[in-house]
Amino acid sequence: MKNTVVVGAQFGDEGKAKITDLLAYEADFITRFQGGSNAGHTVIANGKKYAFHLVPSGILYENKICMIGAGCVIKPDDLKKEIEDIISQGITREHFEKCLKISPLAHITMKYHTDIDGYSENSLGKNKIGTTKKGIGPTYTDKYRRTGIRVEDLFNKETLSKKIDIILPAKNKELEFVYNLKPYAKEEILSECEEYRKILAPYVDFNWQENLLNIKNNKSILFEGAQGVMLDVDYGTYPYVTSSNPIAGGAGVGASVGPMSIQRAIGVFKAYMTRVGEGAFITELDNETGEKLRSIGGEFGVTTGRARRCGWFDAISAKYAVLAGGLSEVALTKLDVLDTFDEIKVAIAYKNKVTGKTTTQYPTDVFTHYDWEPVYEVHKGWNCDISKCKTYDELPQNAKNYLKRLEELLGIKITIISVGPDREQTIFVD
Ligand code: GDP
Ligand code: IMO
Ligand code: MG
Repeated sequence: MKNTVVVGAQFGDEGKAKITDLLAYEADFITRFQGGSNAGHTVIANGKKYAFHLVPSGILYENKICMIGAGCVIKPDDLKKEIEDIISQGITREHFEKCLKISPLAHITMKYHTDIDGYSENSLGKNKIGTTKKGIGPTYTDKYRRTGIRVEDLFNKETLSKKIDIILPAKNKELEFVYNLKPYAKEEILSECEEYRKILAPYVDFNWQENLLNIKNNKSILFEGAQGVMLDVDYGTYPYVTSSNPIAGGAGVGASVGPMSIQRAIGVFKAYMTRVGEGAFITELDNETGEKLRSIGGEFGVTTGRARRCGWFDAISAKYAVLAGGLSEVALTKLDVLDTFDEIKVAIAYKNKVTGKTTTQYPTDVFTHYDWEPVYEVHKGWNCDISKCKTYDELPQNAKNYLKRLEELLGIKITIISVGPDREQTIFVD
């Protein structure tokens, strides 16, 4: 298998995990490269439904190494719960100890990070980002401020003690005087770190340099993204974004490979669109049609349970995601959700409500998004069940027309079509 990166190309929850799990069958090494347990990834396999947050979606296979890469942030108690939940579904602890690896360079989400995330969101009121409150933003802030605690620090008492002496005085001032939150004593931080060390110990790959060299030379790699291009901290709907880089290029940084080591960049798009959290969403349907998409598509968050906002496919943001995300092909999911719609709309331009001007360029200043309305192209629905189609030829003509038009608008090929949540409900297009 060619080294492949799978990323979300909309606002997350596109069905990436289903695609990663499928492609993982042919890969030797599956690595998450960014994000943390803000992600909620569903895989349905062998009649069971699994929810992954930080564990890579290749863990269900025997003999594959699944790595949580350096670009990720880890909240060890959440990871522990996630592993225990998967174990309770029949995957053994020995399997985890053999197959799950963690980069010593990944950053740790401390309790004070979740305290700050919760406080910031509450205090922002109607201006909140709508985060998952998993401490993601504050952990990445400390990473880039160079005051983070990394996995490897947990395993070196001296380094940890020195780091805490440097970090804690300023962090406590920030907690008390900026956020009006309780400060921490050094002893509390040390015992939190000790608890995290025990949780992570079976998985940390201190031999990662040698192992990575071997993988690069002899094995095939699947890079798993979380979130989506439109939530990317640089290219997404800033500031209504996450704090990492879910674009294909993020894989190089977050999993220590060079650009020449990646041959395919698959962008996963839903056949319509959803978003959780705040921020403009130009094709959002705050009406019965949106409600119908939500109920048929089961659009409720895996991590927070929040109802997802739903809307039509936005080809303007999608074309932008292909460009900014560095995508080379498309996996289109949830096409079956559109089975009972007489009409299916696609935004092919935006019209400015104030000036009357139309554009097909994606406006990156999201504060202007409320001024833009979608210009729709209307497609005829197919009004039949496609969830059992196994080949492209079996799809109804109207579904093929819809796919062809999306390909034309995006300028890259749709190589995977998903017509249901199960592994078997997938069409690989030659
Ligand atoms: P991710 O975060 O991108 O991995 O996506 P989520 O797991 O948050 O949400 C995708 C949801 O859609 C999950 O419940 C999947 O089981 C489901 N799903 C994935 N592909 C399809 C599909 O083609 N059709 C339908 N009906 N459901 C799908
Ligand atoms: P997966 O991997 C959908 C959204 C949050 C919020 C913004 C910032 O399942 O696609 P954060 O907690 O990251 O600081 O929140 O990003 N968000 C997601 N939305 N799917 C996700 O992950 C998300 N992870 C974060 O709702 O708007
Ligand atoms: Mg999700």
